This record gives sequence, structure tokens and C-alpha cells, in this order.
Amino acid sequence: MKVTVIGGGPGGLYFALLAKKAWPRWEITVYERNRPDDTFGFGVVFSDQTLDSFKAYDLVTYERIRRRFAYWGDVDVVYKGRTMRSGGNGFCGCSRVALLNILQDRGRELGVQMRFQREVEDLSEFPDSDLIVVADGINSIIRTKNEKHFLPSTDLRPNKFTWLGSTRPLDAFKYFFKETKEGLIVAHCYQYEPDRSTWVIETDEQTWRNFGFDRKSEQEMVQTLQEVFAEELDGHPLIANRSLWRNFPNITNKTWVLTEGKTAAVLIGDAKATAHFSIGSGTKLAMEDAVALYEALRKQGDVQQALSFYDRARREEVEKTQHAANVSLAWFEHMKRYWGMAPEQFAFGVMSRSKQITWENLELRDPAFVKRIHQWFANKVREQGFEVDLQNPPVPMFTPFRLRDMVVENRVVVSPMDQYSAVDGVPTDWHFVHLGSRAIGGAGLVYVEMTCPSPEARISPGCTGLWNETQRDAFGKIVQFCKAHSKAKLCMQLGHSGRKGSTQLGWERMDHPLERGNWPLVSASPIPYYEGVSQVPKQMSRADMDKVVRDFGRSAAFADQAGFDMLEIHMAHGYLLASFISPLTNHRRDDYGGSIENRMRFPLEVFRACRKAFDANKPMSVRISATDWAPGGLSGEDLIAAVRMLKAEGCDLIDCSTGQTVPQQKPVYGRMYQAPFADWVRNEVGIATMTVGAVTTPDQVNTLLASGKADLVALARPHLTNPYFTLQASAWYQHHAQHWPLPYLPGRDQAFRLAERERAELTDLKLRAMK
Ligand SMILES: Cc1cc2nc3c(=O)[nH]c(=O)nc-3n(C[C@H](O)[C@H](O)[C@H](O)COP(=O)(O)OP(=O)(O)OC[C@H]3O[C@@H](n4cnc5c(N)ncnc54)[C@H](O)[C@@H]3O)c2cc1C
Ligand SMILES: Cc1cc2nc3c(=O)[nH]c(=O)nc-3n(C[C@H](O)[C@H](O)[C@H](O)COP(=O)(O)O)c2cc1C
Repeated sequence: MKVTVIGGGPGGLYFALLAKKAWPRWEITVYERNRPDDTFGFGVVFSDQTLDSFKAYDLVTYERIRRRFAYWGDVDVVYKGRTMRSGGNGFCGCSRVALLNILQDRGRELGVQMRFQREVEDLSEFPDSDLIVVADGINSIIRTKNEKHFLPSTDLRPNKFTWLGSTRPLDAFKYFFKETKEGLIVAHCYQYEPDRSTWVIETDEQTWRNFGFDRKSEQEMVQTLQEVFAEELDGHPLIANRSLWRNFPNITNKTWVLTEGKTAAVLIGDAKATAHFSIGSGTKLAMEDAVALYEALRKQGDVQQALSFYDRARREEVEKTQHAANVSLAWFEHMKRYWGMAPEQFAFGVMSRSKQITWENLELRDPAFVKRIHQWFANKVREQGFEVDLQNPPVPMFTPFRLRDMVVENRVVVSPMDQYSAVDGVPTDWHFVHLGSRAIGGAGLVYVEMTCPSPEARISPGCTGLWNETQRDAFGKIVQFCKAHSKAKLCMQLGHSGRKGSTQLGWERMDHPLERGNWPLVSASPIPYYEGVSQVPKQMSRADMDKVVRDFGRSAAFADQAGFDMLEIHMAHGYLLASFISPLTNHRRDDYGGSIENRMRFPLEVFRACRKAFDANKPMSVRISATDWAPGGLSGEDLIAAVRMLKAEGCDLIDCSTGQTVPQQKPVYGRMYQAPFADWVRNEVGIATMTVGAVTTPDQVNTLLASGKADLVALARPHLTNPYFTLQASAWYQHHAQHWPLPYLPGRDQAFRLAERERAELTDLKLRAMK
């Protein structure tokens, strides 16, 4: 078997040596354009977990890397003159050239052939190779030449970065954040050898231009950066080495495998997919690709089968890492948004930015760091006038929060969930038990499902309504029960279904018209939800709008009379008000279409009518779809403009959901996947937000709150399986101040005892796993 490897970076070399070790008879040759000792680049860094994973594949390389690597556990976030240190993070680093030399030496010992200073131009140079491994890095010539086959896509990120070195010794991984008159700039730094550190400098395009970096030579750029980071460099120079300013290219390929005639080629490493340097995973991914390809060959025997197995089996892991890297890079692209935060919150935000590190992870690694965040958060709550025990502060989820006169006991919210179980819009015993038990379950705030201001505003015949006294009184009974037996506050969500109305129950064919008995629909524009399936809605006339505004106002008054503490207007998910906001569903040419000001005109009229009818001391929120997850949908600028308008009208909180505007949406799901939108709205506009979506643990709730992404955290589906989510969390954190219903007190004592033991055991297990 003849194997050609194009590119002698970490990916190509590691594959070559693993394969040669397993199959000594294979003829394996690595072609590399540089010399073996060319030192382009400075250090590389791995987490010590990553390094451990290489142990099983080649102990010799592992040991040599281990001996060469510098280890450190602390991460310092240096911001506004304060250094926030977080320990126990376990990283190791060495120079890129040292890593390459280790891999080259080991490859040579095993019999891998290496041809340096050999530029490869085309796959056709290796007609007799049985396998060609394409490991030629980020600017892969082979990928570009065969782009019709690999179908690569490159998303060039807006920030500018350059990779520099320094002789400055560093005792931790350091993020130096600087505010200059030109703008914000950050240095990501770590030591990789005695007296050698990597300095990756990153900034936004405007700041980069303000500094004049677009016109400066490498030497001038180094001079300027030395001045900017003079204090941090502590007299040491910055060292350039082909240090160009670049925009990070996020690269993906539809397929990683090319098999044509006798040619069988496969992409690995940066040629195949890149991950932003801020999660330090580029070398890890390249070497893990090498392992995955080696494993595929070992398991499959046949080359073609092995290559397609590699593509299938490895893709999910790579996409996960790329996703984490994208979330991380987005944080740095929006640094400005967090600039007003206190150092504690800022540092927590930096550490938890990619969602992989949470409140409890950090607590395990460095309890003192989390304690500082903990105390800072509690102190902030105290400054808002609440009694908070600063000696033994509650975790963020168990701190109170105020909106107008309403105070919630904790930050957990039962998200609105349509039960499709009403009769003529009247909530039934089902709602009584459902809402009652969620209130007893301890959440600070319980939302009622989308409730409709008129019969024709309903999504389905099973939806609740609030257009008459019977409905009001039935809700009133539920509110009374919840108030008598829990501390939960209750929020009514009012919404009109628009073009998504007259459909089947949630567990039937959702969003599909009723089999019989459909009622006519209205929307911003006459566009059906499902082309050819859904009804074509009538474009709303001014008279239709007047009626809907009146209906909403009446329902808001009923909600107030029923005793609700809060009111939410549903402007999300493609329903009537959302259909005005999204350009995908609003094609009007009158005063209600076109600009965001026009598209918001009718939703704001509805909001105003409700605000007028609902007690002024009680808060109101709006649920929005912050993105439509579809081309041509709501833009970021329009989202922010819409939120500013709502704030100006007296909206107290934005409930940040996404999508469901059009059926062709392509959401990007994942843990806490909608939190970046709540974060954006909150920190850009300065309004309280609630996040929702794939939040499943108390740990995530604390992480979201402590990092300042949201003020409240809503959970929907988790509350369907566990109404007692909050009570259980109070036991987990030993938070005795949480209200438990009196008849449940014996359960509380047991829950606290068991949780204490369980948590101690789990912590012990995790700590042992980290060693
Ligand atoms: C600013 C910055 C900071 C980074 N920091 C880190 C970090 O801290 N930790 C980390 O793990 N990763 C980091 N990386 C990423 C890391 O450098 C790469 O992801 C990693 O080296 C990818 O390995 P590879 O083998 O796929 O490609 P590369 O290391 O790029 O190797 C490709 C090789 O192919 C050779 N080559 C290219 N074309 C040809 C050709 N036509 N003919 C012959 N040879 C060719 C090149 O000379 C090169 O040696 C960083 C990247 C950047 C840009
Ligand atoms: C059964 C069900 C019914 C829902 N009904 C509503 C609703 O009436 N109003 C609303 O705004 N969102 C509704 N949603 C969306 C949820 O409030 C929430 O935004 C979504 O489920 C994501 O949160 P989760 O991942 O915690 O489930 C519903 C969700 C579910 C699962």
C-alpha cells in the first residue's frame, strides 16, 4: 500500500506515524513545502485532557510531548485594571516547531519518508498512490483545486487578528483587554517555552483602521502594539514572524473524501475544517482527525469504505467543536457589548463564553473564583434593595428580581405552553392542575399558555381565550389557588394566531388546517403558512386592526381583573403580530410595511392598548422571535430597533425566542441555543431579558444569569416532565429560603439530605476524574 501525505503539519505527520506504526509495510511519504526547522508560528496549546487522549495511540510521542510541554492551570482575565484569576483549567503548550520536530523524529524512526521543500500542486502528481491524505492546512491548494468536489464554504469573520510572539514569561493563560482611544483590543497570550510566549492580538475592523494597521508595515505594527501593550509586556518586545493581519476563515466542506478512478484522497486538519483560535483547538482537531482516519482504516480494511466511514463518524464531533468555536469567536466579535460589566461578570462571561464551561464546572476547578462571582452577584441584588445574606449568598437562580412592583422569589420561569385542552376558550380542570402544580413546584414566575383575545384569534379549538367573563373567572380561580399555595407570580400571555390559526391540536398535525370547521384568517399579508395547504389569510384592513386592538385591550383588562401579576404580548413565532414584524411575512406597501418603524406600527398599537388596560404598577413583557432562521428574515439592526421601540413604550422585559416564522426555517439547535439573542438584546439595548430554549439544568440557569445573558431563565419542556425543577434545585444548592408548600415539608427535609449526599459524591467523582 502506497500512501501520500500532502503537508507536514501536526495532522499530516501524526497520521503518517500512526499508520506506519500499525502497518510497517506500507510505503508512507510526507511532502512538505517548508524545511523541517522552519519556525512559522509560535506556540500551540492543548488541554491536558486532549493530550491524555493521545496516550493510547503512541506512548513514545505522548511522553516526548509531555516532557517538552509547559503546564499551567490558571487563566487570567485582565480587564479595566483588575486581574481575575480562575484556576484548575489544565492546559499545556509548546512551540509549534518543537511539536513538529517530535512528530518528524518519531515518524522517521518508524520509517515514514519525508520530502521537505517540496511544493505539491496537484493530486495527479501521485498516480500510483492508493491513498492521498490532504493535510495542507487552512489555505489548502488541493481543496481549492477540487472545490467542485469537496464543496468548501468559507465564512470570513469580521474581526482582525495577528499572531505574534514575545520573550515575556507568563505564569497563566492571559487575556489582556485594553480600551484605547482607537477602540477595544485584546491579546490572547500564553507561554509555551521558558521566555517565549504567543500573543494573538485581536480587534474589530474599525479599531484596526483607527490604528492605521491597514497602512502600517509589519515593523510599524509591532511598534504600535508594543506601545499599546507596554504595561503587559513589561519591557519585553513583541516578535513578528510573517505576522500578517487576517480575518479568521471558518471553513467547512460538504464532503471530505474524493474517490475518482484510482484516486482516493481525504481531507484532514485545517484543510477540512477550521475552529477559531480562541478555543485553542486547531492542532487538537488536526491530530484527532489523524486518529479518526487511522481508526477508520484499522476498522474497515478497504480504503474507500474507510474514507466514507471517517467522514460519517468524525463529522459530528468536528461540527460540535466548530460550533463551540463559533460561539466563542462571536463573544470576541462583540466585546464592546460587555464593556460596561463589572470585572467579576466580565471574567465569568469570558470563561463561560463557549457554553462548554459552566458555573459548576468552574466551581469544581476553582471554588474561590466562583465564590467571588457569587458574592458579587448577591451584592448587586442587595444593592437593588433586597435582603441577601452575603456571608452565605444564594446562587444566582435563587436571587429575587423586580419588575415594576412585582418581585419574583427566584429567576426560574415556567415558559408558556399551549395545552390545547380548553373548551370554548375556557381553561379546564386540566389547566387548574397543570398550572397549579407548576406553581407549587417552586418557579418564581409561571406563564399561562398563549391565550387569545377572540375566538377567531385561536391557534386551535383547544386554545384558551380571554374574551368573556367566564374565561376570566376560570383563570381567576387558578390564580387564586396559586397565590394561596405558592409564592409564584403569574403571567398571562396574550396572542393572536394570525395566519397560523384554525389548525389542529398540538399532538395532531400541528400548523395544519382543521379537517372541518375552519374559520377565516387574517395576517399582515395574504401569504399562507404552507403553500397549497394552509388557508390564504386576508390582508388586514384598518378596520380589522381596530378590532384586534380593541380585543387585546379587553383581554388585558380581564387579565388584570383575574389577578395576573404580569402580562406578555406574543409577538413571536409567526403569529399575527410577528407577521407584521418579519419581512418574510409582511409584504405590505402601506404605513404598516417596509421599514421596521412601519412594521412595528400595529404591534405597538396593540402593546399600547394593553399597557393602558393593565395596572400600571404591574410589568409587561413581549415575546419576540429574535431571528427567523431564514434568509430575508428579521435583521439584527431591525431586531435592536424594534426592542428600542418596545422599551420606549414601557415594555419591561423581552422574552427572547426565535423562529417559527416560516416552515423553511433552519434553526441551529444546541444547549441554551437562544441565549445569545437574550444576551444581545439585554446588553445592547439595556433592557431586562428572559432566555428560553434547551435549558435543562440549574447549573445552566446559574451560568446564564451570572454571565449577564439574561435576567430570568424560562424552561418549557423540562417543566412538563418535572414540575418540581425549582424545589429540587433548592435541595441541590441547600437553599433553605426557597418556599416549599407546608404539606410538602417532610419531602423537603429528605430532599435536602439526599441532595447533599448526592452532590458530595458527584463532586468527589468529578474531582477524581479531573486528576
Ligand atoms: C493565530 C492562530 C493561533 C492558533 N493557536 C492555536 C493554539 O493555540 N492551539 C492549537 O492547537 N492550534 C492553534 N492554531 C491552529 C493551528 O495552527 C492549526 O489549526 C493546526 O496547525 C492545523 O494543523 P494541520 O496539520 O491541519 O495544518 P497546518 O499546521 O497548517 O500544516 C499544513 C502544512 O502543510 C504545508 N503545505 C501547505 N500547502 C502545501 C503544499 N502545496 N505542498 C506542500 N506542503 C504544503 C504547510 O507548509 C504546513 O506545514 C492557531 C492558528 C492561528 C491562525
Ligand atoms: C407543548 C408546548 C407548547 C408551547 N406553547 C407555547 C405558547 O403557548 N406560547 C409560547 O410563546 N410558546 C410556546 N411554546 C414554546 C415554549 O414556551 C419554549 O419557548 C420552547 O419550548 C423552548 O423551550 P424548551 O427548550 O425549554 O422547551 C410551547 C412549547 C411546547 C413544548
